[in-house]
Parts: sequence; structure tokens; C-alpha cells
Amino acid sequence: MFWFDQKDERAVFGDQRRETHQLKDKSTKGGFRELVFDPDVLMDFRDMPFPAGTFSLVVLDPPHLISCGPKSWLGKKYRKLGADWRDDLRAGFSECFRVLKPEGTLIFKWNEDQIKVSEVLGLTDEKPLFGNRCGRTAKSHWLVFMKGQPAS
Ligand SMILES: C[S@@+](CC[C@H](N)C(=O)[O-])C[C@H]1O[C@@H](n2cnc3c(N)ncnc32)[C@H](O)[C@@H]1O
Repeated sequence: MFWFDQKDERAVFGDQRRETHQLKDKSTKGGFRELVFDPDVLMDFRDMPFPAGTFSLVVLDPPHLISCGPKSWLGKKYRKLGADWRDDLRAGFSECFRVLKPEGTLIFKWNEDQIKVSEVLGLTDEKPLFGNRCGRTAKSHWLVFMKGQPAS
């Protein structure tokens, strides 16, 4: 959803699901809007099907909700975290840094409506270099990491 050009050949979109939903949307002519998930690669971010050091840039945008209604549009759009979300996100970070080239960039997107970003950042040893808050309530974070800690 956040790509300016979803057909950009440099982008590999990975997700766990391939599905289409009809969402109610009063601003459209028919009152509905299609929500399509059609990833290039069906994959699990905890165990990615790519060799180490494949990418210069990785974007991790995992679900951020632990509770939402089973039929809610938020649940359809973003899915929700499982009971083992700490382990899942720890594995997700680890996989992102594995598939990045040395000094590659990880962009991590997080909305702290239900879980504080500080708690999530405790699930990786890597530290973000900088970031930005946005959204109506400033709860959405875009954080930028560079693979590899500086030598001390
Ligand atoms: C916040 S949405 C990402 C939206 C995406 N950035 C976009 O622009 O379309 C989170 C996505 O993570 C996917 N997801 C959840 N668990 C996953 C996993 N273990 N591996 C891969 N994708 C997963 C969900 O299906 C959901 O589409």
C-alpha cells in the first residue's frame, strides 16, 4: 500500500497471504473498495527464502495490533500479532539483518497504538540511527537502521 510504484522492478513484496477483501467505503461510487494482497513472494518474515546479504534495502512493516475485531477493517488491512509476537518480531528483525548486505538499510515501520516502540526496539541488538513520528496522533514511527554496529 505504501509503494509509490508497486510495479517497480527493484521491489520484492513479501507477505504471508494472497487474498482480496471488499471494504465498505462511502467515498466510492459503489460504496466498496477492494483491498488486494498479491505479494511477489509468499513468505514468512521469520524465515525468509533469501540468501544472506541479498538486499541493500529492506522494509519491515509487521502487524502492530495485538487485539482487533476478527471482521474489523484494521484486522483485514494489517492483520494482528500472535501470542508469541515478541519471538516473532525478534526473528523478523534477525532475518531482516541477515538478508541485508553489510551496511545495508532497514526501514522499520511501527504504530504504537497498543505496544510501545521502545518495547519493540528491545527485540533487536541493532540501534536505529534516526526516525520520524507521523500520523494524526503521531503514533506511527518510521525508523532507519544501518546493518552493523560501529567499531568501538
Ligand atoms: C502492516 S501490514 C503491511 C502492509 C504493507 N506494508 C503494504 O504497504 O501493503 C502487515 C502485513 O504483515 C503480514 N504478515 C503478518 N505476519 C507475517 C509473517 N510472519 N510473515 C510475512 N508476513 C506477515 C500480514 O499479512 C500483513 O499484510
